[in-house]
Amino acid sequence: MGKFLRVAIIGTGRKKERADRFGYAMAYSHADAYKQIPGVELVACADISADNGLAFAQHYGLPADMVFENYRAMLDDVKPDMVSICTWMHLHEEMTLAAIEAGVRAIHCEKPMASTFGGARRMHEAAQAAGVRLTFNHQRRYGEPYVMGKKLLDDGVIGELVRCESECGNIYDSGTHFIDMMSKFNNEVPGKWVLGQIDYRTENRVFGGHCENQQVVLFEYENGVFGLVMGGAGGAHPIGAQNKFIGTEGIIECGRDHGPAGALRFRRWGDADWTNVDTHGASIHGPGFIERAIADVIDCVREGRPCQLDSGNAMIATEIIFGAYESSRRRGRVDFPLLIDDNPLTDLVDSGAITVEGL
Ligand SMILES: NC(=O)c1ccc[n+]([C@@H]2O[C@H](COP(=O)([O-])OP(=O)(O)OC[C@H]3O[C@@H](n4cnc5c(N)ncnc54)[C@H](O)[C@@H]3O)[C@@H](O)[C@H]2O)c1
Repeated sequence: MGKFLRVAIIGTGRKKERADRFGYAMAYSHADAYKQIPGVELVACADISADNGLAFAQHYGLPADMVFENYRAMLDDVKPDMVSICTWMHLHEEMTLAAIEAGVRAIHCEKPMASTFGGARRMHEAAQAAGVRLTFNHQRRYGEPYVMGKKLLDDGVIGELVRCESECGNIYDSGTHFIDMMSKFNNEVPGKWVLGQIDYRTENRVFGGHCENQQVVLFEYENGVFGLVMGGAGGAHPIGAQNKFIGTEGIIECGRDHGPAGALRFRRWGDADWTNVDTHGASIHGPGFIERAIADVIDCVREGRPCQLDSGNAMIATEIIFGAYESSRRRGRVDFPLLIDDNPLTDLVDSGAITVEGL
């Protein structure tokens, strides 16, 4: 592929003072990142809201005829080399498949992969079959707490990895970041089985998707490393950090609290106290992670080398997440490969198998 890339955005969002679960306008973060990369040109955008599209175009200096309400028309007319998909997750599958069909060479899509496991699988398989680079914005993989934490692990500071733990509110929306991070620390080894229970009693929709209120999820990777996710208990902290990596000789913790001070620490068995690691002002949320993530995606696209954000890696966490919901539906352990097509949590709600206050 040529070095010069024409990029378009699908789903611009609307910048607002305070982002929330009804709109982060992630497209602006993607566009800011593309703007910094030599040889990458932001050429067009599409949003069903004309106001949102026009405001985005104005912000980035796009001409009016490069603003579309129909993303398929944009794909046909503009023929971008690459698209960023920044809509809510129920649209990721159809938009990814349409972009592949239209002949784009690369797609950077927001997390979570899709609203069903079958959707995630179809996106991954279609991209593989067409030779299209498909990546997901698990940008925290590029953050100092995690990059430096992984280096501590690779340097043998806590010995061999035994178990990855996470406390993440819900496993689907925010959890995709933290379960995906386990994949990074466990060198992208797939899961083997998952056993999970969820509690969903009060309506909780994030970017339109149902998310459980509380969960306990245990799983094993193919290399014998275990994963454990517990959280969402309304202020209680059963794990005590967003990610905890337990080795044969100690523990690494990332995200004990939301500021840089609690971003990374480790303790070896026998140490009198924890060692706090200076993450140069970065918390587990930023700054600069999306810029670095997108810069790496572009490098990987240009050089034709694998990227840690590739869909194959994202599938590892996605199988665990939907597998956990499936385990709750089946009331038993789920062995992988996960063969379901739907979203078991949505099915539990829609079928009335669980009663959710507010629905
Ligand atoms: N990586 C992260 O840390 C992070 C943080 C927040 C949100 N997200 C993810 O980003 C994604 C987008 O969330 P957001 O909050 O930025 O969304 P948003 O609501 O701010 O923007 C989405 C836009 O998509 C548009 N849209 C809807 N249907 C469309 C269609 N058919 N064609 C074209 N445009 C359409 C909407 O009009 C809206 O402007 C979600 O999947 C969310 O989970 C990721």
